[in-house]
Amino acid sequence: MTTIGEAKGAWAETATDGNIHTPGIVHDLGNMMQVLGSALGLLQRHPAIAANSEPQALLSGAIFALERVRSLARQLGPQPRINIDQVQVGTCILEIEQVLRMAVPPRISLSVEVEPDLPVLLCNRHCLENVLLNLIRNACDAVEGSGRIVVSARLERRTQRVLVEVADNGTGMSAEVLERAAAPYFTTKASGTGLGLAMAKRFTSALQGDLTIMSARGEGTTVSLALSAAGTVRAF
Ligand SMILES: Nc1ncnc2c1ncn2[C@@H]1O[C@H](COP(=O)(O)OP(=O)(O)OP(=O)(O)O)[C@@H](O)[C@H]1O
Ligand SMILES: [Mg+2]
Repeated sequence: MTTIGEAKGAWAETATDGNIHTPGIVHDLGNMMQVLGSALGLLQRHPAIAANSEPQALLSGAIFALERVRSLARQLGPQPRINIDQVQVGTCILEIEQVLRMAVPPRISLSVEVEPDLPVLLCNRHCLENVLLNLIRNACDAVEGSGRIVVSARLERRTQRVLVEVADNGTGMSAEVLERAAAPYFTTKASGTGLGLAMAKRFTSALQGDLTIMSARGEGTTVSLALSAAGTVRAF
């Protein structure tokens, strides 16, 4: 007997034949992530890959990144869910340091400087991680040849906000680019979407914070997120 299942939920109601493009892609992404997850899991347990070796560390980074892709795909799914976590920014940065390093080419040095005992923020941990990755990718794009990126988190004593900064000594921005940099879809890159800084700004605003960009041509750029422990990212 063949059973033809019925799709359920509001998402399915809008997914008429003419409107299944995004749901279909999310569905097929799920299949691919399943394959990737199984392959990475098998590799992690493979006898040829020694515990505590560099390949094991790379695999852990890849599995971590795949988890984040799953989390993002869930937000496109029928029941989008964003968890609110109690996030200690310093600990969060140190936990993903290995993954951040994978995003940076070896010719560029990456330093991580975090103050201990920062106030706890109420936000989605994965959103914060994505914002950091976006800022680091921008910094990598801006650094020509070898260069330096510093990621830091400290307490802004006057306001008691957590100040997260990504600084680079890359090309910097002209005044015109600086003015428009965080506007959605503004990009100067051939393959850019212009959404990285816009997403960072949205995340920061949702935490009742401020995003500031300081940049000078030929000297570099520092993007600062001042995040308030009093705010909660609910609508992000
Ligand atoms: N660290 C930086 N140094 C110099 N310019 C930057 C830096 N970060 C951002 N910009 C400028 O701001 C623009 C917008 O950045 P944003 O991250 O929003 O989009 P993008 O990087 O162009 O595209 P995508 O994030 O999709 O790859 C960039 O195209 C670039 O011109
Ligand atoms: Mg970007």
